[in-house]
Amino acid sequence: MARQLGRSGWKVGLTARRLEALESVAASVRASGGVASVAEADGTDPPALRAAIAKLIEQLGPVDLLIANAGVGLGMSAVDFSGDQFDQMVRVNLVGAAYAIEAVLPSMIERGRGQIVGISSLAAFRGLPGSCGYSATKAGLSTLLEGLRSELKPLGIAVTTVHPGYIRTPMTVNQTNFQPLLMDTDRAVAIILRGVARRQSRIDFPWRMATFLRFVRILPDWVYDPIAARLLLGRKSARIPIRSESGG
Ligand SMILES: NC(=O)c1ccc[n+]([C@@H]2O[C@H](COP(=O)([O-])OP(=O)(O)OC[C@H]3O[C@@H](n4cnc5c(N)ncnc54)[C@H](OP(=O)(O)O)[C@@H]3O)[C@@H](O)[C@H]2O)c1
Repeated sequence: MARQLGRSGWKVGLTARRLEALESVAASVRASGGVASVAEADGTDPPALRAAIAKLIEQLGPVDLLIANAGVGLGMSAVDFSGDQFDQMVRVNLVGAAYAIEAVLPSMIERGRGQIVGISSLAAFRGLPGSCGYSATKAGLSTLLEGLRSELKPLGIAVTTVHPGYIRTPMTVNQTNFQPLLMDTDRAVAIILRGVARRQSRIDFPWRMATFLRFVRILPDWVYDPIAARLLLGRKSARIPIRSESGG
């Protein structure tokens, strides 16, 4: 996404924990003629995140487009339910996004322009068995953004919530569970950036899975619960983490 934005003329500011990975993305943005800066920060450390975003603003100017993308997905079923794992996901997926928004919103409001994009997930649509914690964090993010959207629209600021299905990234590469309609990253980036350019309020894809989950969302519990139980059985193991700890 950074590379594509750089090619389209955006100055790209990147923040995450691994400086080397950030530098490598920034180098490829620059190699294709773009402008990029990096500032490492752990999104769960508010002062560090604020400092990183301030550094990027100093180097590149005020933020017109924030993409709150950092996320962690740890599989968590009832038998291995862990408050610590849930806390970790909440702090990255939800609270981290909120601090990133806080760092750019006052300037957007003052200038009467900007766009906030949050990368949620189709997992937000319903509490998914085996991923209840992840679903909850993404539902929280989607709801946060929905609440902000109506307030910010009259101020000239668009809010876009992205609900992807399975995308081939380091997050999914080691998953052994069924990943229907798994999509390549380039295709996903094209869909996301097209919706962002149109300032859509939501970008749900792939459309077939989004349509299915929109339908699942309105099912009453007595219909949903047995389907969800079958979904859990369909996973090779409810205990396999969605994401290894090493990469976040
Ligand atoms: N892949 C999918 O199928 C899928 C589907 C729906 C939604 N999503 C969402 O898409 C977003 C991107 O995920 P991905 O699939 O690209 O997975 P990924 O390759 O694991 O990327 C996760 C990103 O989040 C950053 N991150 C993680 N913890 C962080 C922390 N504490 N502080 C700062 N940055 C942190 C990572 O950088 P560092 O490790 O360097 O910090 C990395 O850049 C996530 O929000 C994910 O939930 C993914």
